[in-house]
Amino acid sequence: MPDYQIAPSILSADFARLGEEVDNVLAAGADIVHFDVMDNHYVPNLTIGPLVCEALRKHGVEAPIDVHLMVSPVDRIIPDFAAAGATYITFHPEASEHIDRSLALVREHGCRSGLVFNPATPLSYLDYVLDKVDMILLMSVNPGFGGQSFIPAALDKLRAARALIDASGFDIRLEIDGGVKVDNIAEIAAAGADTFVSGSGIFGKADAADPNRYDGIIARMRDELARVGSV
Ligand code: DX5
Ligand code: ZN
Repeated sequence: MPDYQIAPSILSADFARLGEEVDNVLAAGADIVHFDVMDNHYVPNLTIGPLVCEALRKHGVEAPIDVHLMVSPVDRIIPDFAAAGATYITFHPEASEHIDRSLALVREHGCRSGLVFNPATPLSYLDYVLDKVDMILLMSVNPGFGGQSFIPAALDKLRAARALIDASGFDIRLEIDGGVKVDNIAEIAAAGADTFVSGSGIFGKADAADPNRYDGIIARMRDELARVGSV
């Protein structure tokens, strides 16, 4: 079985109790903290920046933090997120004037780099930079908001991205973001994803007996992933 990783998106967490919410999903078995950065410019919403990333590290979060930049431009803010403790920094190619330079900047600052593809953005942006990315993130919704429905065309795009990665021989994670739930995660994994962002699908589904526990929902996702190959 591939090394499947579950990445709760804190966009759907209770921000007034963010440290505790992150502790709780990690205690339930999540692997990565997905951190959505929006600027009310590249996307029509505004969220959190490096100070919050740093606060999570100071709070004691040791898991990888997966910073998804939905901002333009990107270069000014990359070093700040690296200093704040980001593990991955991914950005949308349309948001950078110089994609190759921005990817190099992420690695120069000690982080793992990635490109993010909106539903209508072609994978051809990868043609000359595949050696410079550690993560390919495919959006299965249009970026800006949690709680949207999964766009089915993302499945074919996942298969295409998986073929590219396998043919390249590079060690690149394939992440999917948007509308990922218990009932579609197996199909998404079968299409080639190995890293699963889920916001409302996790933070909206705390254990019935204890709203601070996410063990049930994470276990159900893992059970679904365990049956991939037999679907
Ligand atoms: C949307 C964000 C997502 C969002 C996903 O722009 O990039 O990470 O939080 O939320 P769900 O899982 O609710 O679709
Ligand atoms: Zn995201």
